[in-house]
Amino acid sequence: QMDAFIDDLLARMTLQEKIGQLTLLTSDWESTGPTMREGYKQDIAAGRVGAIFNAYTAAYTRELQEMAVEGTRLKIPLLFGYDVIHGHRTIFPISLGEAASWDLDAIETSARVSAQEATAEGIHWTFSPMVDVSRDARWGRMSEGAGEDVFLGSEIARARVRGYQGEDLGAVDTMLATAKHFAAYGAAQAGRDYHTVDISERTLRDVYLPPFKAAVDEGVATFMTAFNEYDGVPASGSKFLLTDVLRHEWGFDGFVVTDYTSINEMVPHGYSRDLAQAGEQALNAGVDMDMQGAVFMENLARSVEEGRVDTAKIDRAVRRVLEMKYRLGLFDDPYRYVDAAREKATLYKPEFLEAARDVARKSMVLLKNEGNVLPLAADAGRIAVIGPLADSKADMIGSWAAGGDRETRPVTVFEGIAARAGDGVSVEHAKGASYEFADAGKTDGFAEALALAERSDVIVAAMGEKWDMTGEAASRTTLDLPGNQQALLEALVATGKPVVLVLLSGRPNAIAWADENVPAILHAWYPGTQGGHAVADVLFGDYNPSGKLPVTFPRNVGQVPIHYDMKNTGRPIELGAPGAKYVSRYLNTPNDPLYRFGYGLSYTTFAYSPATLSAASMGPGGSITASATITNTGDRAGEEVVQLYVRDLVGSVTRPVQELKGFEKIMLEPGESRTVSFTLTPRDLAFTRADMSHGWEPGEFQLWIAPSSGAKASTPVTFTLTE
Ligand code: IFM
Repeated sequence: QMDAFIDDLLARMTLQEKIGQLTLLTSDWESTGPTMREGYKQDIAAGRVGAIFNAYTAAYTRELQEMAVEGTRLKIPLLFGYDVIHGHRTIFPISLGEAASWDLDAIETSARVSAQEATAEGIHWTFSPMVDVSRDARWGRMSEGAGEDVFLGSEIARARVRGYQGEDLGAVDTMLATAKHFAAYGAAQAGRDYHTVDISERTLRDVYLPPFKAAVDEGVATFMTAFNEYDGVPASGSKFLLTDVLRHEWGFDGFVVTDYTSINEMVPHGYSRDLAQAGEQALNAGVDMDMQGAVFMENLARSVEEGRVDTAKIDRAVRRVLEMKYRLGLFDDPYRYVDAAREKATLYKPEFLEAARDVARKSMVLLKNEGNVLPLAADAGRIAVIGPLADSKADMIGSWAAGGDRETRPVTVFEGIAARAGDGVSVEHAKGASYEFADAGKTDGFAEALALAERSDVIVAAMGEKWDMTGEAASRTTLDLPGNQQALLEALVATGKPVVLVLLSGRPNAIAWADENVPAILHAWYPGTQGGHAVADVLFGDYNPSGKLPVTFPRNVGQVPIHYDMKNTGRPIELGAPGAKYVSRYLNTPNDPLYRFGYGLSYTTFAYSPATLSAASMGPGGSITASATITNTGDRAGEEVVQLYVRDLVGSVTRPVQELKGFEKIMLEPGESRTVSFTLTPRDLAFTRADMSHGWEPGEFQLWIAPSSGAKASTPVTFTLTE
């Protein structure tokens, strides 16, 4: 039925109308509300535009949809896209924070709520999930993804696609998801955004592609190209990525949109001599829709007429776009997502706010808790909440929260603590320091903050990065606390009062000094609209922290890129005496990171039994089950993320020292034990072999069931994969 409908429509479309379906243009947004450039209105009315992004609200999307449906010859509805990344109006923690929850249900819920709110405002399509693996904390966009790991990133990619798209794309509260940015954007050289990517095809396939493949397997509707080049070819012109891998190897049947003006950028990349050639290269490589560059709109017709682009390719791209409009039900009713009553009833529903608070507390990672400074006692006395992020609404929701309110809704750390503190507890706030780079060296505000600290019993220092210091175009060459925060932190510690550092940022910061000198550290990321309440839930122990790091925290920027699944090298430090030369090490910093991937504390403690295996070996068609018993050895109920790591000892190419192959988050009452089991098959041990084929190899493997990637220091169990 869909095919016949689209065949008929395609047969009636002019070339210009077809190219219109491949054109995505932006709406603008003024303080008075959304606006549309005059020229774009004319383009819509002329059928020269198939999709609009950055347009939302029921009233506004209705207005634009009317232009397309009432005003054009073929009445093809517009598709409305938007960056709904970690919530739409109700903002959840940034994506990296959500990843730290290792809680796939929570992550799916966040995407589900996002879809409910966004679709109630007329949005059909989100430019999420961002599934770029990133191992370089200098790169600001690390905050938008799921961190450094292939396995965790793939599971999270699937959870997000499920959350956005639901079971049925035809339901009015589900929307198209986008796997972006295809591909290897996270490998930008030196962490500088948009920079060259130059990695081997093996690394591409084993590290950067699996989360994209996972999204395809989950049925993701669309892909977005990356800004970067891969192997000398800009991603938007890469036939290798967009056709050979995505279509032929993976069988993806949705449509591919470029990132913003990235076809145009093929000219400065030095890959296309002009925009006309760029458009031809992009379409021929496998791009279906041009975001904002108007390259297709302005050049493609001539390219077809002059024989440089085949009409069949245009028809194929148009068909892919029309299929998505059809699956959303827009041909049945172009206004089905436009419902002012539903919009009113849906935004900021109490259960959405509660979900945002729950996901936020689940995402927080307790990095240090010396002397059990935390949780704060109900009679904590006088609490000083100090720092530039202590009472800053704008910062709480982080970057890419375009539909989010930065002015009134977010609950700050100070407000959350004040709301939670019981009778007899006083909570006061002083900003004290600045996170602006230019303010390094200044001390304005220190005296007020220190006076407050002196008259308090405990200090909560809310420090980190300004919200727009991570996200797009937010790369840094240092990872320290920006501005004069470090100096104030040192002065606060010098008062001798207990200090709790609540870190708010979107990347791993280099906080070696704090790790040595501050008794308690909680990473709260940018926790979203309800963030302050969630911080208070954790600080007061109403919620026992359960997050684990989805990225390695380096000691300093010189260790970057650093990740847990590195290779051993021919000269690992284990072969040398402490301080030995001619082994793979730094002279001035240990190789180990400050905090490992998978690390995070709880207010209770967990003991792990040695892992056991169901057999000593498995054959090609078999499986092996590894189990360990975890016991809550403390006096509070708590959740633990149990992690499975494997090392393939010898391969036709060298293999990482450990790789995450499974995890399960469990809740244990005090004294309770649970046996957790993971079943592996040879497929789980596959990689890109020396001959570039994908598969496993027989041999010896080590395996750990552990609370973090630090496990490789402990004794593994071993098994054999036989021929
Ligand atoms: O979705 C984003 C992308 O991640 C970065 N460039 C702009 C797009 C649309 O806003």
